[in-house]
Amino acid sequence: MRIVSGIQPTGNLHLGNYLGAIRNWVRMQDQVADTGGECFFFLADLHAISMPHTPAELTANTREMAAALLACGVDTTKSVLFNQAQVPAHSELQWLLNGTARMGWLNRMTQFKDKSGKNREGASVALFTYPVLQAADVLLYQATHVPVGDDQKQHLELARDIAQKFNNDFCDEDAPVFTLPEPFIPPEAARIMSLRDGTAKMSKSDPSEMSRVNLSDDADTVMKKIKKAKTDPEPLPSEEAGLEGRAEAKNLVSIYGALSGQSVAEVLRDHGGEGFGQFKPALGELLVDTLRPISERFNELKQDTPELDRQLATGAAKARDAAAGTLSKTYDALGLLR
Ligand code: TYM
Repeated sequence: MRIVSGIQPTGNLHLGNYLGAIRNWVRMQDQVADTGGECFFFLADLHAISMPHTPAELTANTREMAAALLACGVDTTKSVLFNQAQVPAHSELQWLLNGTARMGWLNRMTQFKDKSGKNREGASVALFTYPVLQAADVLLYQATHVPVGDDQKQHLELARDIAQKFNNDFCDEDAPVFTLPEPFIPPEAARIMSLRDGTAKMSKSDPSEMSRVNLSDDADTVMKKIKKAKTDPEPLPSEEAGLEGRAEAKNLVSIYGALSGQSVAEVLRDHGGEGFGQFKPALGELLVDTLRPISERFNELKQDTPELDRQLATGAAKARDAAAGTLSKTYDALGLLR
């Protein structure tokens, strides 16, 4: 089993990232360590330059995101942790796969449509070809499972399409170069929504800080954000069907369930009939208890820049070794003389 996943080092790690992806990285890392599998987790700094950015901020955010992942439990004695920019094979493989990816496939990617908005002509080429780099990220390590939130599903389907077409076009049937990766999307927290709008996903790029809980928020900030979260005036229903059409209420109940390890039905069994004046403080406390140890570790780890750099360099050296074989096979399959 090969587990591979990444996160963009833009802004803070938020609750959506944690419940949708990072918590599963850590769970899978601990399971895989016992069965001889391997995990590769990286900061997608090459992806981050697809949007306008400030270089000094990208450097600082890359280190901070590394500290945040370590604080969440990514353990460099069990997993390989690195930033893409230190492993040139990612960019190289992207170029090689650009020959296989089809314009029509990329035209269908909803992230490009969302992020370029009305200014498609002014979007960077990197934003358009972003999903090919993401395919390279996972195919390079022969990933079998990719733990991500629901918003990455389309990108992973594209990675499978690229792998399949490349194997078909350039490899003998019994010697494919690429493994087809399976997305692992958690059933209970695949899409955590904004605290201000139950129809928009919680996101690093939302201009409102009140829309998300960051893993580095202190207890007062968390309680305030939950207290101010948008809701409706009705009490919680006691059955799941009663959440229909109540996106904000549904989101808060899902967050509660993801944190307490309960299903939505179980949360409603315990809290049905409560108004938000009662439910929100309970949710706030559960969040604060979950986040406290993480934010304490994060605040400590982020101070030690040389140690973070050392950890990323060590991880990158291991990643370069692991990537070399697949990259070489890809050049060979394409008939590129080296
Ligand atoms: P990114 O940086 O936006 O998010 C990192 C991870 O967090 C998940 N996530 C969410 N899950 C549930 N609810 C939410 N509101 C929410 N917001 C974010 C994302 O699904 C993701 O798993 N393109 C990727 C980074 C990437 C990558 C890869 C991932 C680059 N190469 C290869 C997997 C494999 C991204 O921008 O994620």
